[in-house]
Amino acid sequence: MSSQSVLILDFGGQYKELIARRTRECNVYSIVKPGDITLDEIKDINPIGIILTGGPNSVYKQDSPHCDKRIFDLGLPVLGICYGAQLLAWSMGGTVEPCVNSEYGKTKMIVNEKSTIFGGLSPVQEGLMSHTDQITVLPEGFISVAQTADCLNAAIENKNKNLYGVQFHPEVESTPNGTSIIRNFLYDVCKAKGDYDLKNLENQLIKDVQNQVGSDHVILALSGGVDSSVCAALLSKAIPGQLHCVFVDHGLMRKGEGDEVERAFENMNLDFIRVNAAPRFLKALKGVKEPEKKRKIIGAEFIKVFEEEALKLPNVKFLAQGTIYPDVIESGGSKAATIKSHHNVGGLPETMNFKGIVEPLRNLFKDEVRALGRQLGLKKSYVDRQPFPGPGLGVRVLGEITEEKLEILRDADAIFREEVRKRRIKADQYFAVLTNTMSVGVVGDFRTYDYTVALRAVKTSDFMTCEYVPISHKVLGIVSSRIVNEVKGAGRVVYDITGKPPATIEWE
Ligand code: XMP
Repeated sequence: MSSQSVLILDFGGQYKELIARRTRECNVYSIVKPGDITLDEIKDINPIGIILTGGPNSVYKQDSPHCDKRIFDLGLPVLGICYGAQLLAWSMGGTVEPCVNSEYGKTKMIVNEKSTIFGGLSPVQEGLMSHTDQITVLPEGFISVAQTADCLNAAIENKNKNLYGVQFHPEVESTPNGTSIIRNFLYDVCKAKGDYDLKNLENQLIKDVQNQVGSDHVILALSGGVDSSVCAALLSKAIPGQLHCVFVDHGLMRKGEGDEVERAFENMNLDFIRVNAAPRFLKALKGVKEPEKKRKIIGAEFIKVFEEEALKLPNVKFLAQGTIYPDVIESGGSKAATIKSHHNVGGLPETMNFKGIVEPLRNLFKDEVRALGRQLGLKKSYVDRQPFPGPGLGVRVLGEITEEKLEILRDADAIFREEVRKRRIKADQYFAVLTNTMSVGVVGDFRTYDYTVALRAVKTSDFMTCEYVPISHKVLGIVSSRIVNEVKGAGRVVYDITGKPPATIEWE
């Protein structure tokens, strides 16, 4: 992948992924491991430097997460961030105490530009602060290289030992020159070569897959989502003629999406098997209203269809999956080789006798996966699609799922998405839901009794929380008018203005 890597030790900070992304954006490969990793494990990874993340604890409390203090004697450059800086200072004999005045938010600092990590920057900087403890006494050999009004040790260094600590968060956008600070650490302290880029990455991933698979055949459950699609594109290049992609069209895709998925792969060197299974999914879902039950049925049916198809391909020895890095980190680091059942298909066949699992994207972040997909020839509009749950419209039709209701939802959703896209409204996810509420209306001289469509558009960076997008009434009016005029069966349109929490992004 790259000859060099930076090791990020996690102490529970919410920004660990951001740190990893920033280093990769600086063309240095990075991996995240738990903070209590052993010295031997670190030596095996052989990083060019270590970054300690922030975290919510107080370093002077016994049950707080600590690291093996000997990592500071390995001769490796270390950058501690927030809790990580306090841990560095405390481990080396300094003192950390509760702040007299805690700092939150963007804070002005005076930095010493002679410090390597502030090289090329002007003396007045801003950094995002979020701390209730601070370093009050520096360990021997350290000096303070940045101060705020309330924090005398906003950044510290021991140049001889290549040890640095910053109380602020350089990894977030609210620290305007944060990436420069990280870059300085990587290039001027760790002496990075910067050899991590997408072309090298693709070549390396291809070699790895070829080594793992040899001449065996591989099967991939292609959900049509971005991750499994990029995985398919990569594998078709790595092992042409040895890949079988089973795309189970469960009839719960958005308008035209099944055909779009098929088109995306028509010129690739793979065996694309589209199973039009809509009727059997609808049959299995008949009469079912409860959302969790629907999810289970969709997941189970998916496995059945996939297994049936897989059994028709007797020589397949490997199962490929589009697992990506956030899936791995969230499920507990290296222990997380499990199938990402919660994500797309509710579990894949465990009974099938595979030699192994192929997960070429398991070290990549979503934006890297998208960039790789574009590099591999998938269309930008295809790889940039917004997230879509594996059970698809199955979780966006409330109450019983019928073909008639799916048809209404697909058309209403397509109109809403077209209008949002056309107007370049900034939303991370936007879609229509078919509520189970019907009401009386009037069209011409006729009484109608039709469904209520709900529209949802949210802004979010992590999909764990969200805010609704304040789309103007004018635009909502246009969308509403188009939906009730163009979609038979849709009688009213409402807009969801609830945040998460307490609501979720999906309605189900
Ligand atoms: P909620 O509704 O829990 O959704 O706020 C958070 C994000 O997850 C997506 N989502 C899913 N994605 N399989 C997926 O791959 C699923 O079963 C699933 N359910 C929800 C949802 O669209 C939102 O982006």
